[in-house]
Amino acid sequence: MVVKCFRKIHELWTFQGAAKKQGRAVKEADLSLIKDGAMLAIDGKIAWVGSDNDLNNKILNELNIQKDPEEIFFKDKVLMPSFVEAHTHSVFAGDRTSEFEMRNQGKTYQEIANEGGAILNIVQATREASKKMLLQLAQKRVDRFLEQGVSCLEIKSGYGLDEKNEIKILNVIKELKGPTIVPTYLGPHACPPELTIEEYQKQILEKTLSYIAHNNLAQRVDIFIEKNYFDIQFARAYFKKAKDLGFDIAAHVEQLSHSGGTILALEYGAKSIEHAVEITNIEVEAIANSETTAVLLPTADFYLKAPYPPARNLIDKGARVALATDFNPGSSPAQDLSFVGVLARLEMKMSLAESLCAYTLNSAFALGLEHLKGSIDTNKSCDFIVLEDNLSSLFYSVGYHPVKEVWLAAEQKYKKS
Ligand code: NIG
Ligand code: FE
Repeated sequence: MVVKCFRKIHELWTFQGAAKKQGRAVKEADLSLIKDGAMLAIDGKIAWVGSDNDLNNKILNELNIQKDPEEIFFKDKVLMPSFVEAHTHSVFAGDRTSEFEMRNQGKTYQEIANEGGAILNIVQATREASKKMLLQLAQKRVDRFLEQGVSCLEIKSGYGLDEKNEIKILNVIKELKGPTIVPTYLGPHACPPELTIEEYQKQILEKTLSYIAHNNLAQRVDIFIEKNYFDIQFARAYFKKAKDLGFDIAAHVEQLSHSGGTILALEYGAKSIEHAVEITNIEVEAIANSETTAVLLPTADFYLKAPYPPARNLIDKGARVALATDFNPGSSPAQDLSFVGVLARLEMKMSLAESLCAYTLNSAFALGLEHLKGSIDTNKSCDFIVLEDNLSSLFYSVGYHPVKEVWLAAEQKYKKS
């Protein structure tokens, strides 16, 4: 048994209040500050957390700790839960810089897609890339997330499309190092050029989903429900099959237009619905009354010059809202948590407390990992970041990440030099 004792923590923000409220209607007080705090971790899990003054031999005895634990001091330091990044498309090869110029000249995402751009543009390069090359490219991106304080990172497939290449991508995701990595199968991201949509959908339903389940390549599946991509009818069959196979469900819904994906995803108990730009009050109410987390991706909306999702309305109605980068080479080529946080605060009128909770606890909910991640509490993984400054320095300056150290399961994974 490996025991570590983190002591004399100047400010320990546990987010326990937010966790009690399951990430809904979070206020600043719910970030639950312990001054001069302490934390005990056994084999990477938090066994005790409280005020340093209260840490005594009785507690060590109760926890059956016989030897004096290793002590690590955080005097003058500010600690909080590490970030959970719940929506990325980080495995790809190729380049889509020209699309940015096209959009600036007035073309829409859909128009570019119709001309063979957007998702399909990157598919060819990703198919041609070796596993080794994809791994090298992706590992650099993962490292960049880690340096920003991310200790748990979701990565979707979806730029291979055919079974062989989707499996190649999921295998790459398996080999990435650093944070806890959560793979998501996103075969239904676009139709591959060599198949008709009917053929591709049949392949996914009759072959690929089962292969992925049986080979344990992902525990969650996603789909792009959108005009010219995948419709409600297929989404229903996909969710049904995915549920039967025991997958968790996520879905890209109402990103560019309203197609009813949100309500369908809720019907199937989705862990998360993502984007939710074009939702109406009916969907806002339905999300608020569900256990599904709304993952909002404001940098994608920024880059697409789209409206921002109704975060204020969602939160005020009681929905659980998470934030993520949607990092991908087309609609959100920004791997920057600060940028997301600044947009959330400035454009979506989220408070700092709501934004921080959205990027930790609520993202953990979106990934179905709320029992392990997202707040500092007993029985959770001992994941935290050490800040360079106060909490209020977060989500303030774009491109600046005031994160000094990143710890995962009581191990230091990153330290700023
Ligand atoms: O989340 N909307 C679908 N998927 C991505 C875009 C992917 C791409 O443009 O390559 C998104 O924005
Ligand atoms: Fe996405």
